[in-house]
Amino acid sequence: MDITGKIAVVTGGASGIGRALAQRFMTEGARQVVAVDLNADGAGETARLAGCVAMTANVGREADIQAVVERTEAEVGPIDLFVSNAGIFRPGGADSSDADWADSWSVNLMSHVFAARAVVPRMVARGGGYLVNTASAAGLLNQIGSATYGVTKHAAVGFAEWLSITHGDQGIKVSVLCPQAVRTAMTAAGPGVAGVDGMLEPEQLCDTVMQALRDETFLILPHPQVKDYMQRKAGDYDRWLRGMRRLQAKFDGVPGGPKA
Ligand SMILES: NC(=O)c1ccc[n+]([C@@H]2O[C@H](COP(=O)([O-])OP(=O)(O)OC[C@H]3O[C@@H](n4cnc5c(N)ncnc54)[C@H](O)[C@@H]3O)[C@@H](O)[C@H]2O)c1
Repeated sequence: MDITGKIAVVTGGASGIGRALAQRFMTEGARQVVAVDLNADGAGETARLAGCVAMTANVGREADIQAVVERTEAEVGPIDLFVSNAGIFRPGGADSSDADWADSWSVNLMSHVFAARAVVPRMVARGGGYLVNTASAAGLLNQIGSATYGVTKHAAVGFAEWLSITHGDQGIKVSVLCPQAVRTAMTAAGPGVAGVDGMLEPEQLCDTVMQALRDETFLILPHPQVKDYMQRKAGDYDRWLRGMRRLQAKFDGVPGGPKA
């Protein structure tokens, strides 16, 4: 897909990866970008920086996503690309509070489901469209230090695969973005384990995303090492689990804790 002349929605658009993508899409000639976030001031600042539009929404609420899609299509035009990128990280194990589990499910998974429900029928009726869902390398390789994050990001990868399998032949392109550490508010306290292969700037991540959009590749890996780790996992699961335990021991007490 060539972003030139396209209309894109980017959730989590007030900050970090979402803001950088909104700016890059506008720089690369998008017709319009809608930066969507719970943080209205931050989304407004993105709109100012990128020269795009801002909308406020809680992506964990279906009615909010529907309203964003309806308003965008009525006031801006048909959505070509929906980037479901908002996400949250809550540290903790299986004993994380029910509220942390529920919030992580709704923001890290159900937001993607709500977006697909709202835009896929419209895109299919128009002959096609593109969904980019931000998961994480944690959705492929799990997350030391956060059960809620590791599990819900796996679900996000699973849902993106399902969308591609089910709707790919109807013209729906799907990509899933799976970075390790990126310098954003989420990693402000330190990247923890996710920093093993270095911290990317959001603008570097945008380079990889733009290439993947052009090539229409499903799996977007700004840290290419992740593919090797996936292959090692598939090749010998028990060995991979032993390695992850060693990694966990190594990062115990590192500033910033284990982060995605
Ligand atoms: N930074 C990293 O190292 C890293 C690595 C892998 C994956 N990710 C993923 O990238 C995505 C973007 O994160 P980021 O690093 O830019 O972090 P960030 O904290 O800078 O941005 C996340 C944005 O999502 C918004 N948001 C959170 N909950 C929301 C909700 N319910 N409704 C609407 N907006 C909401 C926040 O207000 C914030 O603006 C997330 O899905 C995150 O899990 C980040």
